[in-house]
Amino acid sequence: MAREPADEALPFDDEPAPEVAPEPAPRKRRSRRKAEGSTESRTRAASVDPAKERVRPIPEPVSLRGHGPARVLALCNQKGGVGKTTSTINLGAALAELGRRVLLVDFDPQGALSVGLGVYPHQLDLTVYNALMERRTTGEDVLLKTGVSGMDLLPSNIDLSAAEVQLVGEVAREQALARVLGPLLPRYDYVLIDCQPSLGLLTINALTAAHGVIVPLECEFFSLRGVALLLDTIEKVKERLNPELKVEGILATMYDARTLHAREVFSRVVDAFGDTVFQTVIARTVRFPETTVAGEPITSWAPQSPGAAAYRDLAREVLARAD
Ligand SMILES: Nc1ncnc2c1ncn2[C@@H]1O[C@H](COP(=O)(O)OP(=O)(O)O)[C@@H](O)[C@H]1O
Ligand SMILES: [Mg+2]
Repeated sequence: MAREPADEALPFDDEPAPEVAPEPAPRKRRSRRKAEGSTESRTRAASVDPAKERVRPIPEPVSLRGHGPARVLALCNQKGGVGKTTSTINLGAALAELGRRVLLVDFDPQGALSVGLGVYPHQLDLTVYNALMERRTTGEDVLLKTGVSGMDLLPSNIDLSAAEVQLVGEVAREQALARVLGPLLPRYDYVLIDCQPSLGLLTINALTAAHGVIVPLECEFFSLRGVALLLDTIEKVKERLNPELKVEGILATMYDARTLHAREVFSRVVDAFGDTVFQTVIARTVRFPETTVAGEPITSWAPQSPGAAAYRDLAREVLARAD
C-alpha cells in the first residue's frame, strides 16, 4: 500500500504551508496502574466506545420525484490507504440502493476504483483522461455502466497521470473536470469523485468541480497529520475557484473499537472537528479487501455484513446533510 508523504507542495505556492493539524498526543510508555487509574476520562476511554456514544437516529431519506441535478462530492485525503476508494464505491452503491442515480469518477491514475468495480483499466480505449484533454471526447463517451443498478463510472487508468502535467499549460486548468462533468449533472443525484493521494492539480480539479468534500480519516496515530494542509487547500479553492465548496463531513475509517488507541484517536478527531465528523464510522474488517478482489461493492458482496450496514448508514447521513 503506497503511503504518500503527508505534506506535499501545494499548487498554491505563494503562501507558507499552514500549521500542522491538531495531533494525537505522543504516545508515552506508562505503567499499567497509571494508565488504568489516572483520570476519570481515561477510565471512561478504556471502557466506552466513543463512536457508539455519538449515535443518534438518522432521518429517513425522502423518496425522489425526479433526478438531478447532482450534488458533487470529492472523497479526498492526500494520505494513501485511508479508505477513499473503498468509501467511494460503497457509499455510491448504498446511495444507489436508496434510489439515487450515482456517477463515480475514478480520478486516481492508479485506477483502483475502476478495478474495484471489475473494470480492467489498462484495457480501456477511453478514460476520463480523454474527456479531460480532448475536445472531441465527452464524459458521455467515456461512461460505463457498473454491476450496480443506477450507478455509472467514469473510469481511469495510468494515462491520467499525464493529464497532471499536460493540464498545467492549459487555460482554466483547474476547471477541466468541472467542464467534463457539467453536461452529466442533470441526470444524476450524486457524483462521487475518488481523488488520488496528493494535493496536486488533479485534486484541485476535483475540489473545483465539487460542492462538498468527504475526508476519510483512518483511526490511526499519524492520520491527523496533513489534515490541516488539506483543510487549508479546501479553503483556498473555496476562496479562489469554487465559493460553494464545503467540507461535507469527516469519515472515520478502519476503526477498531477493541483498541484503546483507535478509540482515543477517534475522540480526538471528534474533539477537533465536532459535528463535521459523521456519526457513522467504518470498522476495520477483512471484508473490504475481499470486495476489491470480487470487483463489487460490499452492499452486494456481503449485503448483511456490518460493513454494508455502515455504508448504508453513511448514505443516509450524506442525504440528510444535503437537505
Ligand atoms: N474498513 C476497512 N477495513 C479493512 N480494510 C480496509 C477498510 N477500508 C479499506 N480497506 C483496505 O485498505 C486498503 C486501502 O483502502 P483504499 O480504499 O484503497 O484507500 P485509498 O483509496 O485512500 O488509498 C485497501 O486494500 C482496502 O481494501
Ligand atoms: Mg484510492
